[in-house]
Amino acid sequence: MFVKKMETALVHQIYEEMYSFYLYLAMAEYGAAEGMPGLRHWMQNQAMEELSHAIKFMNYISEKGGNAELKALQAPPKSWKSVKVMFEEVLKHEQHITSCINNLVDIAISVKDHATVNFLNWFVAEQVEEEANAKAVIDMIKLTGSAPGGMFMVDRELAARPAALSPLNPTPVA
Ligand SMILES: [Fe+2]
Ligand SMILES: [Fe+2]
Repeated sequence: MFVKKMETALVHQIYEEMYSFYLYLAMAEYGAAEGMPGLRHWMQNQAMEELSHAIKFMNYISEKGGNAELKALQAPPKSWKSVKVMFEEVLKHEQHITSCINNLVDIAISVKDHATVNFLNWFVAEQVEEEANAKAVIDMIKLTGSAPGGMFMVDRELAARPAALSPLNPTPVA
C-alpha cells in the first residue's frame, strides 16, 4: 500500500512520461517533414523508451496495490525553428523530468517508503543518460550542423541509434 501523497505523485509521473512519449512523436513527425529519416528514427525510439517508462510506473503502482489512473494528454507543439532549437527543448524537457524524479524521491524519503526509493533509483540513473544523450546531439549539431552537408551527416548519425526495446518484450522493436 502507498501513502496517498506518494500514490498521487507516482500517478502524475505516468502523465509526465506519456507526455514525453507524445512530445517525441511530434518531434519524429517534424523530422519526417524536414526530410530527415534519421531524426524520425531517433525520436520514434526515444518515444518508445518513454512509453516503457510510463508502463514501468503503471506496473509498479499496480503491484503495490495502487490505482494507475490515466489523465488526458496535452497536445505537443507541431514544429520548431530548427533541429538545434528542437534538441535544446529535448534537453530542457529531460531536465524537467529529472526534477520530477528527484521530487518523487524526496516524497518517498519523507514518507519512509524504501521500496519506492529503490524503484526510483533506476530512473535517477536513467535521467543522467537522458540528459547526456540530448547534450551529445546538441554538441554534434554545433560541430557539424552549419558545415555544407552537415545536417545530412547529423541525420546519418541519428539513424544509427539502436532500436528501443519493447516494454513488453525484451527483443528489439523492428
Ligand atoms: Fe522517461
Ligand atoms: Fe526521457
